Amino acid sequence: MLISLEELASRRELEAKIKSAAHYRRIAQSKGLPCENPDSPAAIRAGSDTPEPEGKPLSKPAATVLIPGWMHEHARRMLRTHFSLVETPDCDIHAHLSPEVRASIRGVACRARIDRQFIDALPNLEIIASYGVGYDAVDAAYARSKNIVVTNTPDVLNEEVADLTLGLLISVVREIPKAAAFVRGGRWKASDYPLSRLTLRNRRVGIYGMGRIGRCIARRVEAFGLPVAYHSRRPAEGVAYDYFPSLLELASAVDVLISIVPGDPSTANSVNAEVLSALGPEGVFINVGRGTVVDEDALISALRTGAIAAAGLDVLADEPNVSEDLLALDNLTILPHIGSASVSTRTAMADLVAQNVIAWFQSGAAITPVP
Ligand code: NAP
Ligand code: 8YV
Repeated sequence: MLISLEELASRRELEAKIKSAAHYRRIAQSKGLPCENPDSPAAIRAGSDTPEPEGKPLSKPAATVLIPGWMHEHARRMLRTHFSLVETPDCDIHAHLSPEVRASIRGVACRARIDRQFIDALPNLEIIASYGVGYDAVDAAYARSKNIVVTNTPDVLNEEVADLTLGLLISVVREIPKAAAFVRGGRWKASDYPLSRLTLRNRRVGIYGMGRIGRCIARRVEAFGLPVAYHSRRPAEGVAYDYFPSLLELASAVDVLISIVPGDPSTANSVNAEVLSALGPEGVFINVGRGTVVDEDALISALRTGAIAAAGLDVLADEPNVSEDLLALDNLTILPHIGSASVSTRTAMADLVAQNVIAWFQSGAAITPVP
């Protein structure tokens, strides 16, 4: 098939853009987008405005990519354009794929639990592109030991998750879900909604995890006129908020604790009875990081006894299962893990999943490998 010189040039340009990790940043700058942070969603959305490669790319890399289980349709479409795709209903690939097909697979794009067994079943695997910034579901250490690159989707969701965090905090403190249910339940004509016992005013907010998302949450909290303090294992660079070297000290100094640390052995059950008790009877706990970070029994007990006043959880230890004990608590708001769940942000995440795989096979370097 003959193509015009202009089309050839534009395809070459598109391929070059896909290869470049700095693509997102340049696009935002060239469009003069009002984003102080070049990694902000505005920049990323601008990157996503780039038309997807249509039809066959100039040279289709000879790679087969596996999608085990669910994957965002945008990523599927992009990957299908560039690679031979193998899709399985779940991660039980021994059951679904012959040894020959497994040997042909060089890339995986997933939102799934990827363990040693899975990795060992794919002898020629080079890259695992995981959908989400938290990659606790992937055995990244084992992948590294086998020279397999793991990528995640950092930055593109920072602001979205921070928005949801403040929404959840205000919902908990000012009882927004209950007040809305009051109107829908037809009770407004009979009486006004009771005054909320809690207020955000005069609170001090502690952020557990001053990383990419923690910083975005902190900026919003500041805008609400509330002082911010934080704990991470070391002081965060370029951050002027009060630093506490232990979580317990932080919890003692604040009356809102927001957890946005990754789920791993170093954070497991770290928000325990002692930390919750230090937060105090006016205390509010918000978890948007991972459910494993909280000792759920200790949280249930603290909410039952009034050791803390209220809590809001976007993440649970055993999603999507929610225990009856949690559901029974009137001072607990639970969301179904929707921190990043808008159409635009989830599309940006899917874009980055696919761009990582494309970049790996076109240039030998992924865009966002995990550390
Ligand atoms: P990040 O930039 O890597 O930040 C993580 C922060 O946690 C860093 O400040 C890190 O600092 C701190 N940290 C890690 N381990 C710690 C420990 N043991 N004790 C104290 N602090 C610790 O990650 P991010 O992009 O902000 O994302 C954070 C997490 O949010 C993700 O891993 C994911 O689990 C969760 N998340 C949830 C949603 C949602 O929908 N609810 C969406 C996106 C992300 P130090 O290394 O200095 O300790
Ligand atoms: C996603 C998240 O909901 O990025 C993360 O770490 O927790 C969320 O953005 C999830 O990873 C994909 O389902």
